[in-house]
Amino acid sequence: MISSKPSVTPAIASPPTSPPAQRPTWQRLQRLAANGVPHLRELLCDSGARRAERLHWHAAGITLDATHQAVTHEVLDALLALAAESSVREQAAALARGEIVNPTEGRAALHVALRAPGNATGPWSADIAAAVHAERERFLAAAERIRTQRWQGATGESITDVVNLGIGGSDLGPRTAVQALQALVHPTVRVHFVSNPDAWTLYRVLRQCTPARTLFIVQSKTFTTAETLQLAASARRWLADGGIAADVQRAHLLAVTAAPALAAAQGYAPEHTFRIWDWVGGRYSVWSAIGLPLAIAIGAEAFRALLDGAHAMDRHFWESPPARNLPLALALLGVWNRNFLGCPTHLLAIYSSRLATLAHHLQQLEMESNGKSVHIDGTPCAIDTGPIVWGGSGIDGQHAYFQLLHQGRHRVPVDFIGVQQDDTPLPLAADHQRLVQLSLRAQARALALGRDDAATAAELRAAGLPPDQVQALTPHRRFAGNVPSNILWLEALTPRTLGALLAAYEHKVFCQAAIWRVNPFDQWGVELGKAILRQLQNSPA
Ligand code: F6P
Repeated sequence: MISSKPSVTPAIASPPTSPPAQRPTWQRLQRLAANGVPHLRELLCDSGARRAERLHWHAAGITLDATHQAVTHEVLDALLALAAESSVREQAAALARGEIVNPTEGRAALHVALRAPGNATGPWSADIAAAVHAERERFLAAAERIRTQRWQGATGESITDVVNLGIGGSDLGPRTAVQALQALVHPTVRVHFVSNPDAWTLYRVLRQCTPARTLFIVQSKTFTTAETLQLAASARRWLADGGIAADVQRAHLLAVTAAPALAAAQGYAPEHTFRIWDWVGGRYSVWSAIGLPLAIAIGAEAFRALLDGAHAMDRHFWESPPARNLPLALALLGVWNRNFLGCPTHLLAIYSSRLATLAHHLQQLEMESNGKSVHIDGTPCAIDTGPIVWGGSGIDGQHAYFQLLHQGRHRVPVDFIGVQQDDTPLPLAADHQRLVQLSLRAQARALALGRDDAATAAELRAAGLPPDQVQALTPHRRFAGNVPSNILWLEALTPRTLGALLAAYEHKVFCQAAIWRVNPFDQWGVELGKAILRQLQNSPA
């Protein structure tokens, strides 16, 4: 029997007790920001190789180019000192040992154990490693049976459609990965995702499916989420109406949950129920059996490659010195923009259409983790914490909302995410790829450099405009610039690089939480709405 309890050290991993703003380095950073950092126009002209060298990081097939961030050497030194002063490394080590890093729920957060190869132990216990390994082999075997059409429904037909029912962390991770890795998906077994209990969303998928050949995966860590249970009830009714009566539906229903008893009580067969544990947060769960729809879509081997990529990023995070640590760099640059340059939002501009859903996954990861206003000890935060994270397809954004980034009154830091080698089998794919990559670079440059009055007026004069028009148009056609950005390149869009990218952002979020002293693993903010929904459901109409 697999234990749901990790062997945790009972003590809460202790972050530094002083509020961030009282730390000497925080105050040093405030002074550096108040004194003003040179415009990015100047910083980018600083051709000293050292700045470019310091502002590039490489790990597990990912390159971070942060040369377009508004940071000097002094700022970088102070940010690294802040990480040390905030004991980020020590807190990351406590997480990996399985200590209770989520004290409000009394839980560990051991998603890193889910992607360790085989049943290798890490700093976590051997029990955890064995449980993870056993359950991984179980769900990957099921995925292979479904993919190879050896999984038969009640009437003996093979499964052609798999419908994932789940929401939030029980949807976004696998949905993002299936979209990203669509070049690898199975040619005939189709995988669909339904999260929204709006009836049309389910109907739109079911009208393409045949009950005898359809399998539902009901994914819910708690197995109490109203949206998912409504979808599951409707799916079961659809099966029954399609000739798969309730008593023979087991072969059409899989459950993934940390509450197997609740699933069993609702009629899900134990042999069709896959286990996660209370120490797997929903938004950190794609590596677990929550990844089952992904494993069905891309196969066990590619799924293992995703885990390997994430594990390679974990090792980079644990083993690289702070100055060369890619996730830590993402975190520190984000803290600089949020707390010292006063930017309240953060844009994800994604230049690979297959990766566009990533913006939703990372939005949940960042905002549900660090959207907090009390410190881990319950005291109020006197500093800003997680920014508003938003975004999607960058190239579409250029022709929609980028106007505000270029000339509006908000300074919006950006993560540009692109892919270096494209594998699309179209004759002119290389031309497409060049356009996409150059567009990404052009936007990062334009946002950073802007165009001042003198350059704008010179351009208008060169276009032959008379002086009065030059004067009238210059204020409209100038760009302040100085908008900071990261450029993240995946060397290619593969399971391995995708795993590494997702893991990098998980570590980024953790480092920021460690600095801000917030608990990134609870989400009490979603509870009040759920409680009121229950009250409304139970009150007379
Ligand atoms: O309401 C938010 C949330 O609790 C997320 O944290 C979680 O990923 C999602 O709902 C789904 O929860 P469950 O997997 O328990 O259905």
